[in-house]
Amino acid sequence: MSIIIKDLNKIYPNGKHALKNINLEIPAGMFGLLGPNGAGKSTMIRILAALNEPTSGSVNMYGYDLLKERKQARSVIGYLPQDFRFFAQYKTYEFLDYAARLSGMNNSGKRREAVEKMLHSVGLYDVRDRYANKMSGGMKRRLGIAQALIHDPKVIIVDEPTTGLDPEERIRFRNLLSQAGGQNVTIILSTHIVGDISSSCNKMTLLNQGELTFIGSPDQIISQAKGKVWRAVVAESEFQEINEKFPVITTVPVPKGWELQIVSDEKPHELAEPYEPNLEHAYVYFLENNLKLWTNG
Ligand SMILES: Nc1ncnc2c1ncn2[C@@H]1O[C@H](COP(=O)(O)OP(=O)(O)OP(=O)(O)O)[C@@H](O)[C@H]1O
Ligand SMILES: [Mg+2]
Repeated sequence: MSIIIKDLNKIYPNGKHALKNINLEIPAGMFGLLGPNGAGKSTMIRILAALNEPTSGSVNMYGYDLLKERKQARSVIGYLPQDFRFFAQYKTYEFLDYAARLSGMNNSGKRREAVEKMLHSVGLYDVRDRYANKMSGGMKRRLGIAQALIHDPKVIIVDEPTTGLDPEERIRFRNLLSQAGGQNVTIILSTHIVGDISSSCNKMTLLNQGELTFIGSPDQIISQAKGKVWRAVVAESEFQEINEKFPVITTVPVPKGWELQIVSDEKPHELAEPYEPNLEHAYVYFLENNLKLWTNG
């Protein structure tokens, strides 16, 4: 395992218990950390990025103890924060050079080479002389990835990567990331957007109110929602009642009223038919039922 997290707790000074006894093993490859707002994703990510310390517990990262060998651990970590910012006075290539220096690349020749190569691979070479604050949202994101990858990290940690990106940039971002993940590289993707996970991760965990409620593959969590998802066409007049009683995932207006997808243990409507669950259904099912399920997957 690339990363082994044991009995991790984070209690903020105000008493907020943001992570509760987290035990998790993360293999190489793309790993998804999925959870709603306030679940504790950023708290966990900042601990894994060695920017914040847990209240108790341990993290082993590629053989380094994250708490006792912080400096060595940091040298294998690349981090793209949720609110990635940079200094407006830097041009794109200057900023990357600065990031490379920060992550311990001391040889200026090697650094220049790495910066040049990175500018090409994220498609920012043509704007290398542009000030970073004059770039589009998508370009800034790519610069964010570039600074996280510049020192060839073993662990790439990305917090809410696609927030604010249009669909095209979103796909480009995902592809960039998956290309970056060479052999034996671990990419941790924290998100509340289900679509970010399903298309790219083979293993994932679900974090809810500071607790891990699922660990396994997207397919495994989806199979847990089998028989719990329904499709029904209901009349306008019935909609309100159903919507109050059950989690309704999608609503599509049809001539007779509404076509709904509903997550429920029991049949929610006499005309409801079973529906094949997807990751979004499974996510809602787990959150609604506060389910706890451990798999070894
Ligand atoms: N510095 C802090 N001091 C006290 N409480 C905090 C602090 N940072 C976060 N919290 C609280 O801890 C909980 C988890 O927050 P965190 O930011 O880790 O969640 P998140 O899953 O990243 O949410 P989001 O999807 O909104 O980014 C929340 O209840 C939050 O209010
Ligand atoms: Mg967050």
